[in-house]
Amino acid sequence: MADLRTRYLGLDLRTPLVASASPLTGSLDGLRRLEEAGAAAVVLPSLFEEQLTAEADQVGRLLEAGAGSLPAALALDDYNAGPYGYLALVEKAKASLQIPVIASLNGVTPGAWVEHASLLEEAGADALELNSYYVSSSPGLAGSEVEWRYLELVGSVRQRIGIPLVVKLSPYFSSLANLARQLVEAGADGLVLFNRFYQPDLDLDTLEVTPQLELSSSEELRLPLRWIAILHRKVPASLAASTGVHTAADVVKVLLAGADVAMMTSALLRHGPEHLRVVEAGLRDWLDERRMESVGHARGQRSVRDPAAWERANYITMLAGYPDQVHTQAR
Ligand SMILES: Cc1cc2nc3c(=O)[nH]c(=O)nc-3n(C[C@H](O)[C@H](O)[C@H](O)COP(=O)(O)O)c2cc1C
Repeated sequence: MADLRTRYLGLDLRTPLVASASPLTGSLDGLRRLEEAGAAAVVLPSLFEEQLTAEADQVGRLLEAGAGSLPAALALDDYNAGPYGYLALVEKAKASLQIPVIASLNGVTPGAWVEHASLLEEAGADALELNSYYVSSSPGLAGSEVEWRYLELVGSVRQRIGIPLVVKLSPYFSSLANLARQLVEAGADGLVLFNRFYQPDLDLDTLEVTPQLELSSSEELRLPLRWIAILHRKVPASLAASTGVHTAADVVKVLLAGADVAMMTSALLRHGPEHLRVVEAGLRDWLDERRMESVGHARGQRSVRDPAAWERANYITMLAGYPDQVHTQAR
């Protein structure tokens, strides 16, 4: 039977199947179910900068008073809510799970809230995922400046923790490969490609903005697939595929492109944690049928050596082949 073990952020994982941040990973019960079903690691839902900014003042006062420890922070009044409840969840998850627990912070500006990263480490998190998404709506703000903000934030978090740091990115950058390299230089040990954004719609009866939360489908895998294939071996960092991983075939694809792990949220919300068993069995079957001894044999076989030439050639071939494709589909 194929060996499914993989390494991600320096952590040894039983398989490449990781449960990404979602309401399922936000309770001890959900986390236990995910572990039982075979998740090799879990990412907790994000704590937001906005949640932390107010509490950061309190934490700062505690640190100044020499109470720079987790118990002191946990002793704050709102222990059971927000940031402190989160620390408690990390502690409980670490006490009852065998698999690595990755905490998650979501923010855009370096500031006092970043101190929380060290509390998450103290609470026992095996790694920290930093989810940063800044929508630049100012015509006066250059793209390079937006990128600089990301780098500054990553550097600032890196200084505060010793555990691995992974950055969850959006695909909306003009030179993603360059930014990826700079993020690694700033201290990221890995990249999650990609976060998925929920674009609001307009209701034409009420003229209200309607927030839409639709789960993903396998069609959305193409974007992470392409970027993992491009970045594999180009940046010295772990690569996680997120968005559109639903089936064993999806997992095989991202491994072939060069991913170290495949993350799932929508599929697990739709089918329940037990879906992990189906995906794991399918992945093992695929490798066994091709006599591939391990995940390592598949990894990166379909990465891209000369991305620029490949992209252009593919684009031209695809456009040139369009009449044939339409003809074939119509038949
Ligand atoms: C209900 C819901 C809650 C989520 N919460 C978070 C979160 O707190 N932090 C985060 O980084 N991503 C969050 N995500 C994004 C997922 O972790 C994942 O990156 C995204 O859904 C794409 O993967 P998928 O195609 O497997 O769903 C959430 C997604 C959903 C559907």
